[in-house]
Amino acid sequence: MPVVPFKEILQDAFNHHYGVAAFNVINSLTMKAVIEAAELAQSPVIIQVSVKTVDFIGIDPLFAMWTEMTRQVKIPLSLHLDHCPDRTMISKCLSKGWGSVLFDASSMTLTENRRQAIEVVAEAHSLGAGVEGEIDGIKGIEDGMGSDTDSEHKSLEVSLDFIRSTGIDCFAPAIGNAHGVYLESPRLDAQLISDITKAIPIPIALHGGTGLTEAQFKDLISRGCAKVNISTALKMTFMQSNLAFLRQAEANNKWDPLSQFNYVSQEIKAMATDYFRIFGSTGKA
Ligand code: 13P
Repeated sequence: MPVVPFKEILQDAFNHHYGVAAFNVINSLTMKAVIEAAELAQSPVIIQVSVKTVDFIGIDPLFAMWTEMTRQVKIPLSLHLDHCPDRTMISKCLSKGWGSVLFDASSMTLTENRRQAIEVVAEAHSLGAGVEGEIDGIKGIEDGMGSDTDSEHKSLEVSLDFIRSTGIDCFAPAIGNAHGVYLESPRLDAQLISDITKAIPIPIALHGGTGLTEAQFKDLISRGCAKVNISTALKMTFMQSNLAFLRQAEANNKWDPLSQFNYVSQEIKAMATDYFRIFGSTGKA
């Protein structure tokens, strides 16, 4: 059973204290490379896409890619829509067959966020899909979504009430983490993860994975971060490996796109494999 429900893939990770890497893929090459790396490592994996990527590729071609690439795969995997405030897009992805969505209503009032999150959860659950929710915007801009300023942080009680009243399957708290490249080492409120999961055993999504240390990942995963998002590292690996290959191609005056794709794919696989090791998911498929 390759494609499994979001809740199932996260629950196993949560119960057994490992993290499932959720990579923001950007095209067929990166989707294929991440899936192949996960198969080789025998690791569960979440393939996630930003709204910008869905808009660029199109829902139908993207889902066709996903369906074809996962047809023969044996490891547990799931398809997720990252930060999305747009209910129309959410409905389209859910009805197409996405396994989960992050309903990002962090810019709405808490009351409106809760009201709409309840609707999104009902819609998703009726289709066997899951929902990630957030109330504090995660700092940093991710494919055009988000803000570079800190949002006001809600209390533990507000978070717990939001989780209970909406019925979300996974919660993404802001703990000092940020999307993009960290300019200095972040001060993370790891205790908040423990406090939430002690009160409600819900898998936590850790955003802003790129740039955190191995020790930070291990600590946060042990406290309940079962979904670990990696986007910037994948984009950097993709662009830097293309650049390195093209520099070499120019120096040698040798232009072979398929060798380039192969080279970039190997680099993406190496990056993914290393995260599976750090997150403790290798061999957990
Ligand atoms: P990074 O870009 O820091 O890896 O964060 C990814 C993320 O949280 C996607 O939502």
